[in-house]
Amino acid sequence: MKIQKNISLKKYNTFGIDVNAKYFCEITSINDLSEALQLKEYPEIFVISGGSNMLLTKDINALVLHINIKGIQIISETDQNVIIKVMAGENWHNFVLWALEHNFGGIENMSFIPGNVGTSPIQNIGAYGVELKDVFYSCEAIDINNQTIRVFSKFDCNFGYRESFFKREGKGKYIITSVNIKLTKNNHKLNTSYGTIESELTKNNITKPSIKDVSEAVIAIRKSKLPGPKEIGNSGSFFKNPILNYKEFNVFITKNIDAPYYKMSEDEYKIPAGWLIEQCGFKGKRFGDAGVHEKQALVLVNYGDASGKDIIHLAQKIINEVDTKFEITIFPEVNII
Ligand code: EPU
Repeated sequence: MKIQKNISLKKYNTFGIDVNAKYFCEITSINDLSEALQLKEYPEIFVISGGSNMLLTKDINALVLHINIKGIQIISETDQNVIIKVMAGENWHNFVLWALEHNFGGIENMSFIPGNVGTSPIQNIGAYGVELKDVFYSCEAIDINNQTIRVFSKFDCNFGYRESFFKREGKGKYIITSVNIKLTKNNHKLNTSYGTIESELTKNNITKPSIKDVSEAVIAIRKSKLPGPKEIGNSGSFFKNPILNYKEFNVFITKNIDAPYYKMSEDEYKIPAGWLIEQCGFKGKRFGDAGVHEKQALVLVNYGDASGKDIIHLAQKIINEVDTKFEITIFPEVNII
């Protein structure tokens, strides 16, 4: 375990923001992690994993731990299901590809999501009608204070829309070291009703899709709408989709009859923030090196040298205009540091 000094974090965050870590340490095992947490000379630690859901706005005056613990292992199986232990530093999409190779179903709709497996429970990642909670079995996390390993069940994680225990009560207290995921071995339950998956499959003349076909459709849709972080810095959806209650929704939809929405329950209606932002005229707009993606207004982008503060200013401008035009407050989904 080597501690480095003054390291740029530009290549460790998908927004490509160039801030410095005062101290930096690559973590490749749970032992490393436990040892690093016991070092007394660094009072503060900061954890970075895939760096795909954070906006860094300042230098990090702490010991940055880059979680790079690898490993994928089947830990139990029946005729129908398999439980796989995936270490925190595995790239999420590589794990999806691994599952497809083994014909394990359940995560094909979540293909091509940036980030690592260890951070997937924190915000309960999701796409095209499937969320991590649907396949999550349990996870292990190290307690930052006393270095004991604790197992969290699905119940403990208290998942919600882009929410979990780790974003609320557990914030700053644990580092997830592995996630156990339960997938199907046969009779896969395909979920093709969401968004344009169905039409993407039809376009390719696929009538009886396999999990691989669904994954490929999702990848094609995501590639057409979302910028790849390697080409242009971004953090996926920057904002959460706001959820209105029935009364608020009625007021909103009467004034905006063309607005898309998803009914989540009798009293919960999700409005796509991308639509609201586009209606405010931001789609494709650029302010210096900070901008709003031209194909998906929910995604803010760094064209090269934007600072975290440039992105924040743009986000605030968007929040204000959406509020003025629709009387709806939207909130960032990414962690602002
Ligand atoms: N829309 C617009 N303009 C835009 C963007 C979207 O009018 O610029 C409209 C679309 O036409 C569509 C609706 O908004 O009617 C929904 O758009 P989309 O299907 O692209 O999904 P989203 O609600 O904008 C969410 C997730 C994405 C996920 C997709 C697909 C959140 C915050 N975002 O986006 O997640 O991939 O659904 O399931 O829930 C991420 O979290 O990083 C992410 C990309």
